[in-house]
Amino acid sequence: MRLSVIGCGYLGAVHAAAMASIGHEVVGIDVDERKVAALSKGEAPFFEPGLQEILTEGIASGRLSFTTDMSAAAGAKVHFVGVGTPQQAGGYAADLTYVDAAIDGLVPHLAPGDIVAGKSTVPVGTAERLAPRVSAAGATLVWNPEFLREGWAVQDTVDPDRLVAGVPSEDGAPTAEGATAADVLREVYHPSVAKGTPFIVTDYATAELVKVSANAFLATKISFINAMAEIAEVTGADVTTLADAIGHDARIGRRFLGAGIGFGGGCLPKDIRAFSARAEELGRGESVAFLREIDAINLRRRDRAVDLVSTALGGALFKKNITVLGAAFKPHSDDIRDSPALDVAVRLHGLGAWVTITDPAAIENARRIHPQLNYVEDRDEALREADAVIVVTEWDEYRRQLTPEHAASLTRGRIVIDGRNCLDAAAWRAAGWTYHGMGRP
Ligand code: UGA
Repeated sequence: MRLSVIGCGYLGAVHAAAMASIGHEVVGIDVDERKVAALSKGEAPFFEPGLQEILTEGIASGRLSFTTDMSAAAGAKVHFVGVGTPQQAGGYAADLTYVDAAIDGLVPHLAPGDIVAGKSTVPVGTAERLAPRVSAAGATLVWNPEFLREGWAVQDTVDPDRLVAGVPSEDGAPTAEGATAADVLREVYHPSVAKGTPFIVTDYATAELVKVSANAFLATKISFINAMAEIAEVTGADVTTLADAIGHDARIGRRFLGAGIGFGGGCLPKDIRAFSARAEELGRGESVAFLREIDAINLRRRDRAVDLVSTALGGALFKKNITVLGAAFKPHSDDIRDSPALDVAVRLHGLGAWVTITDPAAIENARRIHPQLNYVEDRDEALREADAVIVVTEWDEYRRQLTPEHAASLTRGRIVIDGRNCLDAAAWRAAGWTYHGMGRP
């Protein structure tokens, strides 16, 4: 099928390449000329495992192309909209400027019978508002939220755990137009549909809410365990053992119970804030008032990490060499948007420490935003002469490949703060380190 993808960021670029990899003919469209130039040469504009391979393959096959020219969308049957919906400057609500601009730019190139599939994360009510503009061109708007995780984006796109299509509906059931649109999406995702991946057809509002409530739930799970970490800290309990124990209950589950410096990235933080803002607009602010608490718990963990470093160094950070292992908001990504790792590094720097920071993928991005920090590519170089080491992104390079003995041969001090509870505490202690975890004795 011929497809267009409007917006070639983390979501759109992966979606375009993944759709070409399953046999579709895809044009990716973005206003950023540099991004389009890179993608056209088969170069991934950001670090995402597996993306490079499917980009190269798609371009070589002739099925995948990129352009800044919106008119290239003409002739595609389905047009995916995957532009950003960042937090508004000066507020918590989502900024929908890019979504509106994408729809307005696309409409003149639509043909009757086309499908516009919104993938961006939007406040509930957005599809309902946009639908008339798409209908005026004889096309149908569907909302098809995306659940991909950075670092696993290709796999999550090619083989998602569920597909959701919000279609035009009446009295709780799809209209004839909505049902046809859902069938077209089933065709787009044929390999997943054929293998039995759940394909949920619903109305616009439900589809939009599925996305934000999924992220709100994940954020809640993380902040829940971080709240337990706070209690563990005053009682001497170990939050990692607690998480293991409650995680054995299948109703709870161990995943996303990783206590540490908390969640960041381009999605969870802004999505819970936008959800709160939207709920307030709808007169139901109290229904998700707990999300403010989720946010607050999350941000407190960064303070805690900074306090741990400071206390471990005797209360003063001034002129102390601190090596920060990690800058990305999570491993397997070069994304530093709202990265707790980078935030902790910046705060330590602000308190007078000499901060050296390293990361296998995110240094370039981090340097652009925070040029004041000392970036070192090589992990071992970064560790040299450190008075204390803090792990803030659980890359394998730090979690598995760095032994406490080797680290000790490089650093000056023997203080390690495990901001992600990802190190083997016993092994580090046995090697002479003073180990501090998050919510661990
Ligand atoms: C998140 C969701 O997981 C995806 O399903 C969703 O599609 C995506 O947002 C989105 O809306 O686009 P992502 O932001 O890539 O995906 O990252 P996550 O894997 O959810 O991690 C988010 C943050 O939570 C990271 O900073 C991570 O370090 C932190 N985290 C995760 C924890 O602190 N503890 C955990 O146990 C798990």
